[in-house]
Amino acid sequence: MNMQKVDFTVRFALQGAEPRGALFSPSEIAEVENLVNKEAAAIEDLRAKSEATITEELRAKGEAAIKREFQAKKNLAFLELPYAYEPQYGKTVFGETFSQTLEEIKKAAKIIRSGPNHFVHIGIGGSALGAITLINALGDSRSEAKIYVPDNVDPDWIAEIMRQLDLRRTYMNVVSKSGDTVETISTFAILWEKMRTESGLSEEELKQRVFITTNQEKGALAELRKSKGFKPLDLPDVVHGRFSVFSPMGLMTAAVAGVDIGGLLQGARQADQETAQFPFMENPARQLAALHYLGQTKKRISDLILLPYSNRLRTVADWYSQLVAESLGKQGQGITPVKALGVTDQHSQLQLYNDGPKNKLIILFSIRKHAETIYIPESIGDNVSYDYLSENKTLNELFKAECEATEISLYQNGVPSCHFKLAEVNAFNMGYLLTVLEKTVCILGRLLGVNAFDQPGVEESKKYARAMLGKEGEEYKRLRQMVEKFSG
Ligand code: PA5
Repeated sequence: MNMQKVDFTVRFALQGAEPRGALFSPSEIAEVENLVNKEAAAIEDLRAKSEATITEELRAKGEAAIKREFQAKKNLAFLELPYAYEPQYGKTVFGETFSQTLEEIKKAAKIIRSGPNHFVHIGIGGSALGAITLINALGDSRSEAKIYVPDNVDPDWIAEIMRQLDLRRTYMNVVSKSGDTVETISTFAILWEKMRTESGLSEEELKQRVFITTNQEKGALAELRKSKGFKPLDLPDVVHGRFSVFSPMGLMTAAVAGVDIGGLLQGARQADQETAQFPFMENPARQLAALHYLGQTKKRISDLILLPYSNRLRTVADWYSQLVAESLGKQGQGITPVKALGVTDQHSQLQLYNDGPKNKLIILFSIRKHAETIYIPESIGDNVSYDYLSENKTLNELFKAECEATEISLYQNGVPSCHFKLAEVNAFNMGYLLTVLEKTVCILGRLLGVNAFDQPGVEESKKYARAMLGKEGEEYKRLRQMVEKFSG
């Protein structure tokens, strides 16, 4: 049986059905299908060119539009990552650096996995969530090596991690594309100081255990790794944080967790090719983009419920939440992601989804074949038994029945939903799924007319924080005064 498969089904008018309260009519779908196909084709065209070309249409739109088109070409560079590690796919924008990088990653991961070592991935947002998603879904839980991803500066949590670390056996990967993120730099400074002063190992020895994944040119971390001689891994400037799961950001930590990186990249490549070529009805990225777009622009859908029926896929909800929120929440547009977990949240949120305001789009994720099969005993003593649990029923059947029951109830209540079904959780399927979701967001950025690759709304709060911490300069002085006034 081929277990390498991610199926996608959409409940509602996309399949011509007419359930009670259906939100999308076939004519609406047909209309949006053309729009989606046009933008998806534009993305593939742009990628195929060695550089953006200035057409007459573009020239007529003016300088700003031309600039945007060149930037748009650069922004799509991350889609080349799954090809960049193997020379057989030809040259990518990343040159030859990544095939060497992959060798270094594999070598380091082998050493770290060979004993009860500790590996700390320090990063935040897009520089952490991809790694977290991969290790949660695919990590080898029986491995002796233990992985920590402190993606928050909560002092209690950092202190707890420090208590657990065996400093003589600790390795680190510090990840920041900009190289300037204050949370990442602070956590690194704290852990490095502790390793240096308390491990009893020489600084030279320790530096061999610290990787810094950042862009080559700018930022404090690039300078530090050069001047101090930490081990470098590249995170090129053209790869934006939340789209960096297939860069050394995601791959190094995944390799330490025992993930089959080759399978992951293969799944990503296959999804990239299929979403570029397959017609709308067989193309999950295009269909999902259509659902999002219709919901957001025509039906006042404001909430996106991410509902994995799998603890291993739970962090896919975290990862896609960031992708959707940071990429598309712009210029008054966007959809609010809500992270949930099946079955657990059937008992806390499903009431609202089915019977509350009709402003929700639901994405279900499930696994057809779990790694484990657990049988439910027919009864607990003589008095407690359920007739429908007789005949050797398994937890697997119960889980599947609950998921499908939720899907049907959503359908009956007129709540649009779609469903990613993974034949099993493996590296190939994860590479496939994450690529489909990335491409969905790329298409949506173009449909909504927003730049999916920046995050001006996040930068603003970073500036306020720096001002409060006393950063020097006129701009920060002004911001500090504002903050002081605000907090009375
Ligand atoms: O997706 C993004 O671009 C952000 O979430 C960044 O990854 C996050 O702010 C961390 O930035 P950096 O990688 O520069 O440390």
